Order: sequence, then structure tokens, then C-alpha cells
Amino acid sequence: MSTVRVVVTGATGQVAYALLPRIAAGEMFGPDTEIDLRLSDIPAMVEKAKGVVMELKDGAYPLLANVSASGDRAESHHDADWVLLVGSVPRGPGMERGDLIRKNGPIFVEEGKAIAQHGSKNVRVVVIGNPCNTNCLIARHAAGDTVPADRWTALTRLDQNRAVSLLAAKAGLRSKDVAHLAIWGNHSATLYPDFTNATVGGKPADQAVERGWLETEFIPAVQQRGAAVIAARGASSAFSAAQAILDHVKSLVNRTPGDEWFSAAVVSDGSYGVERGIVSSFPLRSKGDGSYDIVQGVKLDAFARSKVEATIAELEKERDIVKDLLA
Ligand code: LMR
Repeated sequence: MSTVRVVVTGATGQVAYALLPRIAAGEMFGPDTEIDLRLSDIPAMVEKAKGVVMELKDGAYPLLANVSASGDRAESHHDADWVLLVGSVPRGPGMERGDLIRKNGPIFVEEGKAIAQHGSKNVRVVVIGNPCNTNCLIARHAAGDTVPADRWTALTRLDQNRAVSLLAAKAGLRSKDVAHLAIWGNHSATLYPDFTNATVGGKPADQAVERGWLETEFIPAVQQRGAAVIAARGASSAFSAAQAILDHVKSLVNRTPGDEWFSAAVVSDGSYGVERGIVSSFPLRSKGDGSYDIVQGVKLDAFARSKVEATIAELEKERDIVKDLLA
């Protein structure tokens, strides 16, 4: 049995509280992989994190080989295989995720440096703290050349899950009946859930439901779903985010079946005209070992292309706002 060393930052937050027991139970890496789970948080939160460690121990999870909490990245990130960067200031009502950019950006400089210095040579990173695409860009730059570009990902699976669920409900079907629904661009109010290539119950989405609804209600509903959760709950999404993080990593560590796709933000290689280096969501296929290919040849009509261009323009703007952190 192999062991995977997993760091979760922001370990005392709500997302981590929903995520940690599921990693410990083997939901992320499967029944044949033991987990060395490292809870990371700012030093002031380490006592609280120790309480979470107690609960994880009290779960007597058969696959949990080791669990620890630390406020020192040299300790928590040592030889880490996966670093799940949840820790950051969350947005409140009335804010856009991009409003957090200058507040959260510096955290990701520190994370990037620590990952380069202490992570395993195969380390893979998932950025969840918002604005996650640009925080991923920042961390990657801070890490320098030690950690290759294809190790850095950011979470847009929550948007994919939301889009799939909304579309299925509108068609009177189930989430499992939706295929090829990819998220493009930024995890923000400009993200583009591409229905033009999606199918519902085997039919093109715009035959299963009205095109007008897709253009004018579906897209904004997916774009604004995080804000709607915050408005209703008074706090940002937690267990749906945890579910998306599980789905994200599971999609990367298992070969993508058949002709399926999944979405994650990755460092652009120039595909679809997205400037090299920008961290954008694309449709992906995994090779099953954490590595992936960007699906090529997806047809984007004029409508889809204009949506993709708008979200990429926002990512370029965010990159310019944090220029000083990318030195
Ligand atoms: C979400 O999409 O629910 C999270 O990114 C939290 C947020 O600020 O919306």
C-alpha cells in the first residue's frame, strides 16, 4: 500500500472541516492509498487545528497513517505530494472574489516559496483560496522553476458541478445525464460554462432546453452562484467546495474514462489563444497519474468565443494588478 502526503491549508476553516474527514476516509485517493494528513494554518490557529486533529484521530480511519497540525510550513509541507491551498480570507456579501486579490495575494507568495522549498519532487498543488486562478499564478511564480507548470491547478470544479446540476434540473434529468459541460476562464463572475458543446440526456443542451434560457439565465446563475450562497447562508460555500476539491483531485489521479472531460484551471500552454502562463479553466483529460492534457479541437462558435475572450481579458487584468508579486 502506498502513502500520499497531503497538506490542507486553512485547516480550521469551514471548507477544511468538510474536506478533512473525507480525505481521511479515503474518498480522495481510493481504498489502496494511506494518507499522511498535514493540517496547516496560521500559528494563532494551531491550537484549534489540534482539536481537528483529535477528531480525525477519534474517527479511527483505517487509511489514516498519520495526522498532524502545524503553523510552520517547513514542517507541514515537508515532502508533501499534494498541497491543497484552502487558507485565505473569504469574501463577504457584496464583494467580488477579485476584491480579495491584494489581501490574499501575499499568502500565495509564501505558499509558492514553501512548496518549492519543502514539497516532494512530484508535488501537485490545488489553489482554492480566492481569487483562485490568480492566486495560483502568484504561487507558481513564487515557486520559480523548481515546480513545473503542469503541477499547478485551481478549482473551477465547483462551477462545473453547479452548471451540471442546474442544467440537469432544467431538463428534468439528473446530473449524471449531463456530459461535456466545461468551464472556461476565471472562477469569477465572468466564467463561461460552455453549453454549446454540452449534452443532456444524449441531446445537445440547446435542444434539451431553450437556447434563450441558456444564454440569459443559466450563464449568470452559474457565475453568481457563489454570491447567492453567501447571501443566503451568510458565509461562503463549504461542503459543496469540499465536494468539488474531492472531484478535482479524483479526476486528476484517475484516468479520464471514455471521451469524458472535466474542468480545472491550469497554466495555459497557449491553447485556444489563451496567453501562455495565464491560469485559465479548460476542459481536461487526465492520464491518471495527476497529469493531464487540455482537450484540443473543441469547437467554439462566435458566442462561445466572445465569452471565453471576456473571461480571459479579466484574468489578464488580474495578472496586471499583481504584477509586483510575480517578480
Ligand atoms: C464559491 O464559488 O462558492 C467560492 O469561490 C466562494 C465565493 O467567494 O464565492
